[in-house]
Amino acid sequence: SAPLRAHAAAIDRYIGTSIDPDPLADEPIYGTIVAREFNSITTGNTLKWDWTQPSPGQWNFGAADTFVDFAEQHDQLVRGHTLVWHNQTPGWVQDLPSAQLRAAMESHIDAVVGRYEGRIGHWDVVNEPFEEDGSLRDSFWREGLGDGYIAEAFQLARQADPNAELYLNDYNVEGINAKSDAMYELVADLLAQGVPIDGVGLQGHLILGQVPSTLQQNIARFAALGVDVAITELDIRMQLPVTPGQLEQQARDYAEVVDACLAVERCVGLTVWSFTDRHSWIPEFFPGEGAALPWDEEYEPKPAYHAIHDAL
Ligand code: XIL
Repeated sequence: SAPLRAHAAAIDRYIGTSIDPDPLADEPIYGTIVAREFNSITTGNTLKWDWTQPSPGQWNFGAADTFVDFAEQHDQLVRGHTLVWHNQTPGWVQDLPSAQLRAAMESHIDAVVGRYEGRIGHWDVVNEPFEEDGSLRDSFWREGLGDGYIAEAFQLARQADPNAELYLNDYNVEGINAKSDAMYELVADLLAQGVPIDGVGLQGHLILGQVPSTLQQNIARFAALGVDVAITELDIRMQLPVTPGQLEQQARDYAEVVDACLAVERCVGLTVWSFTDRHSWIPEFFPGEGAALPWDEEYEPKPAYHAIHDAL
């Protein structure tokens, strides 16, 4: 039957995956599946600050250039990830005094967004700025630049590529809770101040059987503010070893997420955080858990794949 991307395109949405350079280079089936099934890719780790500029003035764009070329060959949207984040940012940035930190943010956004102007369609401009209780995270960004660092980052990104869609991205904001309430208030504030924000990314690192019941309602309230919404890093992890019953539950969970997105017109797309259990961050970051993606470690589609297919 038709690949996921055909079904998504037919309803004017995208289905995406994050990708990694090593499997793209080393395992032919990896690129084959990415090209066939997805009409969007996210740049994985390759545009994070520690990758692009590990020391001052030392730029590494090779991997991201390869991804953007790949996406153009296969008619895919590129989601750039991410510009301003407290993780995977080098120590030399974190240690800068305020004035230099601001200058580093300016030159970084200018260089990275500017390099791909017109070629990277969506940017996760600020990633994970909230604590679970809804307060702003006390990151070195906020310590150095004050709460206004978020608005500044969006303004800089807009200057660097006026046509890119600019997103605020976070996790544990899929359902209605203190953290997503804070995100909602911030987006409303930014819009009221004329800050150029176009979208909200709900990462979607979910646990088996725990798709928030308020997911659709939450997507709808952000859309009602006048921004797009995307599920940007979907995976649904389970305790290992895998059982057939867990795979069936996972299929239902994936379908529930797709259905919630499709129910809201401004939910423009869904991205899985890698597509195969062979290359997933989950086993390393959540010991004992895994099998979070729609393809297994042998690149065989799982029940979750068929559920996404049928839901699109
Ligand atoms: C993860 C990557 O998948 C890992 O390879 C890396 O070691 C750590 O980061 N939220 C995000 C992503 O926004 O950038 C993270 O990606 C997963 C959580």
